[in-house]
Amino acid sequence: MDARAIIAAVRRKETPTAEELSWFANGLAQGTVSDAQAGAFAMAVCLNGLSDAGRVSLTQGMRDSGDVLRWDLPGPVLDKHSTGGVGDCVSLILAPVLAACDVYVPMISGRGLGHTGGTLDKLEAIPGLSVDVTERRFAKIVRDVGCAIVSATGQIAPADKRLYAIRDVTATVESIDLITASILSKKLAAGLEGLVLDVKCGSGAFMKTPDDARALATALVGASNGAGCKTEALITDMNAPLAPALGNAVEVAVCMEVLSGNVAAAPRLYELSVALCCQLLEMHGVTDAQARVTRAIQSGTAMEKFGQMVAAMGGPPDMADDWHTHLPKAPVTFAVLADRAGAVAAINGEALGLTVVALGGGRRIETDKINPAVGLTDMVDLGQSLSQGDRLCTVHAATDADAQEAAQSVRRAITIGEAANVGPLIIERIT
Ligand code: URA
Repeated sequence: MDARAIIAAVRRKETPTAEELSWFANGLAQGTVSDAQAGAFAMAVCLNGLSDAGRVSLTQGMRDSGDVLRWDLPGPVLDKHSTGGVGDCVSLILAPVLAACDVYVPMISGRGLGHTGGTLDKLEAIPGLSVDVTERRFAKIVRDVGCAIVSATGQIAPADKRLYAIRDVTATVESIDLITASILSKKLAAGLEGLVLDVKCGSGAFMKTPDDARALATALVGASNGAGCKTEALITDMNAPLAPALGNAVEVAVCMEVLSGNVAAAPRLYELSVALCCQLLEMHGVTDAQARVTRAIQSGTAMEKFGQMVAAMGGPPDMADDWHTHLPKAPVTFAVLADRAGAVAAINGEALGLTVVALGGGRRIETDKINPAVGLTDMVDLGQSLSQGDRLCTVHAATDADAQEAAQSVRRAITIGEAANVGPLIIERIT
């Protein structure tokens, strides 16, 4: 086969065959397709798109460009993927809850991207815990505990690793076809039987409008089912942070509260975590999903699973009982107060996410080292009524100067006005 013929087909708006796309993906992984060819391919796909069938073939080819995990476990192997938001720490709740419902969750996760936080960065706020484990160790933790959340080894979807880096420098990131193949190749390499997608939409998401979120969700659901993994999606609101905390250790703390049964600590986070767990369980024939998920949390079994996972990944063995003492705390805390009365009319989630990055809770360049302790807590809700002097949030910072700067950014990100339009958390289901 010839990379030039495959690129030319996409340039002519034709769909290369499954064999051709699989060959191209393999060539990306093996280095037999050049950077120039990869860039030309990405641009052709970006401009002309792939057909539904082409999207499935590219996803499968990229998935199969490296190791694909196989499981022989006495329960279904399921996972969730979120397209990224702020205060979104659902994974830390969903994985142990599902494990407590006799599901196996081999979750290969990512780091923060742009203004959004990353599950791996949040987990690494737990002292001693390492997300870099071998595939053998990953398999053992999943088998023994029921869940593990780790970073992809170099053997998982290497075609995506190469193509993603090339897309990043060739203005070809924003293609639904390429995003779909990129996300799913890594997720499906974990050997999943079922997947639920949380496609976020709004000020704190990459997709700002429901139409864009729907187009991505439809492409992802179609390609994932086409590649043999039972998949559904929820389109969810990201016009306000999902949890009242944004950062790394502070989000882990909120998850610990929810797993302790303190639902009031983060009602939206709890609602979405339960909804995503139920969606997955119902897709796999469980008829009393809501009751099982609620029991997993209220009985403490999900918290036990979280503690076992943390211990197996090198974290403190008593994390479930004594998480307060283990999580790092920032030296400076500062209450940001409302300068006038009114209702919270809008929250710019992207700006809040960038505030956390500026505090040191995310990376501006790849080599930045994250400060796990910094962030924002006690965040106001969209629509909440405020008197002058009420708290908008608490800043956790490394220095007074950082705290003051973050406080200014928070005030700019939160609009206090007359009325707020608060929509539903779950906007649509794509099945
Ligand atoms: N996340 C990914 O893994 N790939 C993309 O292309 C976009 C988001």
